[in-house]
Amino acid sequence: MAILVTGGLGYVGSHAVKLLVDRGEQVICLDNLIFGHKQSSSGSEVIVGDIGDQDLLRKIFSANKIDSVMHFAAFAAVGESVENPQKYYLNNISNSLAMLQVMLEFDVKLMIFSSSAATFGEPETVPIVEEHPQNPTNPYGRSKLMLEHILKEYEHAYGLRSISLRYFNAAGADPSGLIGEDHTPEHHLIPLIIKAAMGQRPQINIFGTDWPTPDGTCIRDYIHVTDLAQAHALGLDALRQGKSTTAYNLGNGSGYSVMEVIKMVEKVSGRPVKAVADDRRPGDPAVLVASSKKISEELGWKPNYPELETIVKSAWEWHSGHPDGYGK
Ligand SMILES: NC(=O)c1ccc[n+]([C@@H]2O[C@H](COP(=O)([O-])OP(=O)(O)OC[C@H]3O[C@@H](n4cnc5c(N)ncnc54)[C@H](O)[C@@H]3O)[C@@H](O)[C@H]2O)c1
Repeated sequence: MAILVTGGLGYVGSHAVKLLVDRGEQVICLDNLIFGHKQSSSGSEVIVGDIGDQDLLRKIFSANKIDSVMHFAAFAAVGESVENPQKYYLNNISNSLAMLQVMLEFDVKLMIFSSSAATFGEPETVPIVEEHPQNPTNPYGRSKLMLEHILKEYEHAYGLRSISLRYFNAAGADPSGLIGEDHTPEHHLIPLIIKAAMGQRPQINIFGTDWPTPDGTCIRDYIHVTDLAQAHALGLDALRQGKSTTAYNLGNGSGYSVMEVIKMVEKVSGRPVKAVADDRRPGDPAVLVASSKKISEELGWKPNYPELETIVKSAWEWHSGHPDGYGK
């Protein structure tokens, strides 16, 4: 049976696609290329199109024996979602609903959904467990939480079973060096620092240096993108074996401060990074660290690349080897 991977040509999706292709799965990527890169397909079948295009989806589900969908396609910039919530609700909710409707028409009833730490908002306790209250502080996080709720109702009403994986900060690149992160614009800390080390940006701004953390900068949980991909494969196996709808937090359980990440990029690259103290950004929590105990216990997930140094090294190798990302 084939797997339809929406957003499979984006950063996290392409790493999941590579892992699935490597283990012999039939993978069909559906990506509208707004942010995706055809070069990241790892030899999977690529269909350029939108998840909201129901006629296209009907053609895809008619022409292929598909049992499951891995749903990465979404917009994911927190700040932009505050400026333009409509854009986020239309893509992340309306388009997802349009796709779910066609999935039900074709009796495709398994889904792995890319949810986010942003569904939690300001943490009350860390590490954050699955039962932690979910109070997102922006439309992006709210769109992810809404789809989590929708998916629970779809299991109850239609028997569509899903696993929502709430990623913390995806980082790094596949150890093969063949695929990596190439976002325009880039919002993620590690590639931004690396670009500063490579001279592609003048500096890195640190949003707040007076947080209640040991060095005053925010602490985040970085999870290697290949470890994330592994969690998707385990989730799919569990769904195929009958697992009910659930959600898992995915981080590596260790937080690193912005300052520690900057120092690690300097160490790995051997280059200095100009860091400039800036104001705090509203809505940024001081510390965001996941507990991934539930997925470890239930699915046997274990990160292979938990150390910050390994994560940063793999990112550095990708970016320094591909200074223009995937290119034109
Ligand atoms: N990167 C992270 O740290 C992180 C953290 C938490 C959650 N997530 C979630 O993981 C998913 C993947 O994130 P990413 O960093 O790989 O983002 P990305 O932008 O690199 O990948 C998303 C892909 O989806 C495609 N896409 C978007 N809307 C589409 C549509 N309507 N139809 C078809 N294709 C569409 C884009 O072209 C892109 O290739 C997103 O859902 C994001 O919200 C990411």
